[in-house]
Amino acid sequence: MSFPTREWNRRHLLSLDELEAWEIEFILNAAAAFKTVGERDLKKVPSLRGRTLINFFIEPSTRTRVSFELAALRLSADVINMSATASSLQKGETLIDTAKNLQALHADIIVLRHSAAGACKFLADRLEASIINAGDGAHEHPTQGLLDAFTIREHFGSFKNLKIGIVGDILFSRVARSNLHALLKLGAEVHLIGPSTLVPKLFEQLGAYVHHHLDPILPHLDVINLLRIQHERQRKEYFPSTGEYTALFGLTKERARALKPNCLIMHPGPINRGVEIDSDVANSSQSVILEQVTHGIAVRMAVLYLCSGGKTPAAQ
Ligand code: CP
Repeated sequence: MSFPTREWNRRHLLSLDELEAWEIEFILNAAAAFKTVGERDLKKVPSLRGRTLINFFIEPSTRTRVSFELAALRLSADVINMSATASSLQKGETLIDTAKNLQALHADIIVLRHSAAGACKFLADRLEASIINAGDGAHEHPTQGLLDAFTIREHFGSFKNLKIGIVGDILFSRVARSNLHALLKLGAEVHLIGPSTLVPKLFEQLGAYVHHHLDPILPHLDVINLLRIQHERQRKEYFPSTGEYTALFGLTKERARALKPNCLIMHPGPINRGVEIDSDVANSSQSVILEQVTHGIAVRMAVLYLCSGGKTPAAQ
């Protein structure tokens, strides 16, 4: 494996929009090295010994929160998990005061999930600690974009000539935005598919192809990434009903038969089974949904390591 000669020089990970292609590749190379740690009997390296990471999740999470915790533990960091409901945010403390208090308690890294776009940048501009974006509103979910790219690279080796479809709620999706930035920079062809209310033509200005019908593009895709319909971020008028959404854009068993045999079926989770993806299709051999989750640990180890001053992508 060859590594770029440039050195990682960032303390925060706020978005993939702000990263250059070589930086994304640098993280993916580091993740490949850390993936080998997860395959050992002793799944631990001393890279972050003595550092403290606080997982601060103001929105619910299963995959991201647990895999950041596992990643930090495998790097030998001390880890504290905090939720909004159990914090003094409930008593009216502001986000910045809470974060400054965490820093006063010697937090070296704060992993933040927040419902407001820009919340991570707001803290990064005001704190010494490293801020890692674990999803900020409808803005970005950079480590999800990285683990999706990592999963695709594991299967295809590179992004050249790959046609990658992202289906659904593009407008409100931080996952779609992070995927779009990463995949275009890495050289893939990105197709955004969904109703015109959720996939405006505006996205073409970023370099993606926009489609309002799923069936014609299905046989051409190398990867199809189904997004969750985010009931919490949407108003109902964006499409008439979930039944109609499934009829037009759901990956049903019948539609899955139109895919190439080696087309990867991806989903960031959590899945609405029977809405954006049929339950049997989600469980099928083409589905790499749980592989994506596993790759989240190596990718997050790489991000924590690099943002803590690690310079080389090698795991010890
Ligand atoms: N993909 C994702 O962000 O899942 P969680 O909300 O469970 O973290």
